[in-house]
Amino acid sequence: MTSTPTSPAGSRPRLGEAPPAELLDAAERMSREELRELQLKRLQATLRHAYDNVELYRRKFDEAGVKPEDCRSLEDLARFPCTTKADLRDNYPFGMFAVPMADVRRIHASSGTTGRPTVVGYTENDLSVWADVVARSIRAAGGRPGHKVHVSYGYGLFTGGLGAHYGAERLGCTVIPASGGMTARQVQIIRDFEPEIIMVTPTYMLTLIDEFERQGVDPRSTSLKVGIFGAEPWTEEMRREIEERLDLHAVDIYGLSEVIGPGVAQECVETKDGLHIWEDHFYPEVMDPVTDEVLPDGQEGELVLTSLTKEALPVIRYRTRDLTRLLPGTARPAFRRMEKVTGRSDDMIILRGVNVFPTQIEEIVLRTPGVSPHFQLRLTREGRMDHMVVRAEARPDASPEDRRAAAAAIARGVKDGVGVTVGVEIVDPDTLERSVGKLRRVVDLRQR
Ligand code: DLL
Repeated sequence: MTSTPTSPAGSRPRLGEAPPAELLDAAERMSREELRELQLKRLQATLRHAYDNVELYRRKFDEAGVKPEDCRSLEDLARFPCTTKADLRDNYPFGMFAVPMADVRRIHASSGTTGRPTVVGYTENDLSVWADVVARSIRAAGGRPGHKVHVSYGYGLFTGGLGAHYGAERLGCTVIPASGGMTARQVQIIRDFEPEIIMVTPTYMLTLIDEFERQGVDPRSTSLKVGIFGAEPWTEEMRREIEERLDLHAVDIYGLSEVIGPGVAQECVETKDGLHIWEDHFYPEVMDPVTDEVLPDGQEGELVLTSLTKEALPVIRYRTRDLTRLLPGTARPAFRRMEKVTGRSDDMIILRGVNVFPTQIEEIVLRTPGVSPHFQLRLTREGRMDHMVVRAEARPDASPEDRRAAAAAIARGVKDGVGVTVGVEIVDPDTLERSVGKLRRVVDLRQR
């Protein structure tokens, strides 16, 4: 690893510039063998902790005929049963906590689309590990002590705001806890406080960029140098759009409440080649979502995560539903990378037999001239036929002819690239619902 001097606060971390070795955590400097040894030790302790303290794990392990001591190698994990969101819901609210309530220092919850929220808990030590992995993530993104970090992830039960917040403080940054919403005020704060870093969903970043323009400010002229975007899928086309309009480095952060929150994996700014999974705390597997077979690295499937250090809510082989593949480490050689998440298995739209992911449509809309990156997918049913309309907003300067050309280009792009026929409507600028956090991309009007 090349050793370069720390970027002074305010200077733009140059591409290809890794953090100096002395800034890295000990785990980031481990060899793959040392890391695997640490993982096995932590995995064995986690399986024991889960089995001894959570009724659900004890029952599931017993049913599968496995005991914690049967795990003698990392490969043995495949013999243990998986955990799903339904397990957490069935044990609502605290039934899967592995420590007495008096040791739980914080609770978060994710709402999901239906039914009860998923509740997660943290001990003092869990909160500290979480701050550490988010601090490590911000540093991998180019952040350094002394930088100002504007956090527009929502604060509250959602893990985004507070997760980013404590990580940035842990790194030694100055946090601006803006939370989501009140877009005009956010833009004013960014102009006045001059943060170097912003942490926000990519779709809310687009909303903020539009607001800069509305206020007559060139978004490329702001103080922002790095954007750490996550909590929803986004594509390389979206990265290009944001980097171009804002003149910053856009990098990806991944996480989920059940596993800890943001900070499970992070893309390094010097390579921007997928997200390094912080494997000293989270052990990844990829499984075929249909056959449940564990797939070799490099093959796409569902990401399954096991926590290695969590106390309050250990998760064993948690089925994330997120689709990706595992790749060897680059900027942090010991940590495997996950490819940018292409979508969730449950976001997949099956349109007349063809699997369609919203990210595939995003790629096409974002490379089409004449339309803005704001689009929505509307699903309707006519008789027994499902129908999808891509609604995209025209750019303000698009002529009627540009709009017609854009509609034709999107329809052709989807037909050629995805293999389905869709309708396309080009709507007036500023008419589609804007994101203030995680965007609802699909409007499903089909009757169940
Ligand atoms: O979204 C945690 C988070 C906050 C991550 C801020 C990153 C930044 P949940 O609300 O539990 O937690 O939602 C987790 O969001 O299973 C993915 O489907 C999706 N997701 C999160 N990060 C990414 C990403 C937070 N970088 C669910 N790319 C996950 C694609 C993501 N999808």
